[in-house]
Amino acid sequence: MKALVLQKGVKNDESMYHDVILREVPVPTLNPNNDEVLIKLQAVSFNHREVWIRKGLYPGIKFNSILGSDGVGIVQATSRNEFSHLVGQKVVINPGFGWEKDPKGPESKYAILGLLPLPGTFADYTVVPRAEIFPVPKHLSSAEAAALPLAATFVKANVQPGENVLITGIGGGVALTVLNFVSRIGANAYVTSSDESKIKKAIEQLGAKGGVNYREEEWPTLLKTLLPNDRPFLDSVIDGAGGEIASQTVKLLRPGGIISCYGMTSVPAIKFPMSAVLKNIELKGSTMGSREEFEKMLNFVEEKKIRPMISGVWQGFEHTPEIFEIMNKGKQFGKLVIELPQNNVQKL
Ligand SMILES: NC(=O)c1ccc[n+]([C@@H]2O[C@H](COP(=O)([O-])OP(=O)(O)OC[C@H]3O[C@@H](n4cnc5c(N)ncnc54)[C@H](OP(=O)(O)O)[C@@H]3O)[C@@H](O)[C@H]2O)c1
Repeated sequence: MKALVLQKGVKNDESMYHDVILREVPVPTLNPNNDEVLIKLQAVSFNHREVWIRKGLYPGIKFNSILGSDGVGIVQATSRNEFSHLVGQKVVINPGFGWEKDPKGPESKYAILGLLPLPGTFADYTVVPRAEIFPVPKHLSSAEAAALPLAATFVKANVQPGENVLITGIGGGVALTVLNFVSRIGANAYVTSSDESKIKKAIEQLGAKGGVNYREEEWPTLLKTLLPNDRPFLDSVIDGAGGEIASQTVKLLRPGGIISCYGMTSVPAIKFPMSAVLKNIELKGSTMGSREEFEKMLNFVEEKKIRPMISGVWQGFEHTPEIFEIMNKGKQFGKLVIELPQNNVQKL
């Protein structure tokens, strides 16, 4: 089968120096001692995580890993007969292993698909535990469902209807998925972006109430003027940028407001000022969520008929360089997805 494999590159001036090679590798095998399923992947989606890995800025990088966390496919075989009824079902994979249901964090060692020892989804086939697969919401195509998993990270902000929520860097895949969810919950979403056209699209297509350009130094002041008179504060900030976000939003947040940080695209640390301590602001780190939350997220998507925002769909792994280029330059508005050919199902 074909797979996108990480190879050590030569460090030079280029920003992404580790290579990703499209290579022939053996189809993975099922271990009869574990409850596992073999999946023929139909669609996979990219995350900024793969960019960090290629830049050498992600913890635990292992060369020869098959990359990729997000994937949708058809169950081809099972390790035991007891659940052979799953064969033929279309499923989406929960990419975070080791976190069953504790709302605070993983119960055991947590790991995300796409770095060894967990092979990723950027392959024709993958083997995953039976417990980590879920039916695809019926209204979604494979490409749309593949755009969900890693981007669905917002539970820590505990968003309630009517609240005001700031989502930073709205061009990002996670930010757009969060915006989709926050709007459907009935909360008021505000966004930041470096690109006015992305703010416009977030308002017109995804129901954001307003937005400001984070490249303008005075953006927190501008944002304040957009908040409603009867609720002139933010209840939470869902942030993927890091750096100064706490200092920038402390004046806007209500006492006890939440900053839920899922990434640090801008600076790999957050400065937490004394003014935030005095205001009882809660700063929370957030990876996707538990398996239980993943299932709840899928049910919510199905119930509200949510469709993830997709920036582009390509056919086949040959388009990988183009996708990395777009992601590295931040040109996307939504998720970048590859659909895989289905005419090469191997006889098992
Ligand atoms: N914790 C988790 O479970 C989890 C899951 C997935 C990703 N992540 C992390 O979250 C981050 C975003 O991931 P992604 O896949 O959504 O990335 P992405 O699609 O590549 O989007 C990155 C976005 O970051 C925004 N950005 C860049 N500099 C910024 C700044 N100074 N202030 C505010 N926004 C800024 C840009 O928004 P504009 O284009 O609007 O300017 C850009 O589009 C990455 O660091 C990734 O590693 C974490």
